[in-house]
Amino acid sequence: MLIKSPKASDVLSSEITPKSVFENRRAFLRTAAVAGAGLAASSLALPALAARTPLSGIQKTKWSEANLPGNDKINDYEDVTGYNNFYEFGTGKRDPYENAQDFKTTPWEIAVEGACAKPGKISFEDLIKPHALEERVYRMRCVEAWSMVVPWVGVSLADVLKRFEPTEDARYVYFETLFDPERMPGQRQAVLDWPYKEGLRIDEAMHPLSLLAVGLYGEVMPNQNGAPVRLVVPWKYGFKSIKSIVKIKFQKTMPPTSWNDAAAREYGFFSNVNPRVRHPRWSQATERRIGELFKRETLMFNGYEEEVAHLYKDMDMKKWF
Ligand code: MTE
Repeated sequence: MLIKSPKASDVLSSEITPKSVFENRRAFLRTAAVAGAGLAASSLALPALAARTPLSGIQKTKWSEANLPGNDKINDYEDVTGYNNFYEFGTGKRDPYENAQDFKTTPWEIAVEGACAKPGKISFEDLIKPHALEERVYRMRCVEAWSMVVPWVGVSLADVLKRFEPTEDARYVYFETLFDPERMPGQRQAVLDWPYKEGLRIDEAMHPLSLLAVGLYGEVMPNQNGAPVRLVVPWKYGFKSIKSIVKIKFQKTMPPTSWNDAAAREYGFFSNVNPRVRHPRWSQATERRIGELFKRETLMFNGYEEEVAHLYKDMDMKKWF
């Protein structure tokens, strides 16, 4: 059995790597990989990216690129796929890129259970196939105060969930990542109490912004971004967007979540992006958009206030952070 590290919360916060530092490291690695051919090249060379596979039949939506607000623009592919949090493949921002390339995601099954009329185990293809693939360009805000704009491809989470006919008892939806330390080497370390767990209230899960993402930039999801299927909830801190999902459960009670279990004082269940509520160890008022020099002000609900504020109108957002 894994023993939780008492320092789990420190890992996330210590990963705040300024873009400049990260880029310098990357440039160094590139140079080293080339220059080091005659030296210890094998330990420095970056692995080749897995083949990029285009997805077809992607529909534009009101959240597609054309409607990107204000001064937002899509981040570079290299940033979105090379600067990640995916602790199952290591706690460093570069680790998922380096360690997830051989992660096998076919076949893939998802168990849908709990308070619903039609529970069952289904393949990834069967889960996704009947739904139209949509392009959704979302701002993503990490709790560590960096952000990116990502062109996701996916299907409406609500459309998928409705197929299983949730009952009245389905007040929350629980999500779980694969647990397989053979395939996910980060799970051999007790950084978190594996498997990674997340949850949403049913109205959050059924909100039209909530997405089950299967790709980005019009292509199949790279492993490091959560292949083959992950959640994307753009008005919440990034850790709510759980990767490589194998279980979805409808339930009456609020489900446990990985970061809340690790440090309840620091990571609440709701974790809505809120510049007015500090993380106990740092301010959430500003953020560093990866690729930009100056910090930006963080927007309430990450800029999706108009769409989602009504979900929380009677809630004390300081208490229910
Ligand atoms: N899902 C799993 N299974 N494991 C993780 O470590 N990290 C979360 C979230 N989903 C994580 C996860 C965090 S902290 C963030 S910020 C986002 O994934 C990062 O998504 P990205 O790497 O695609 O930017």
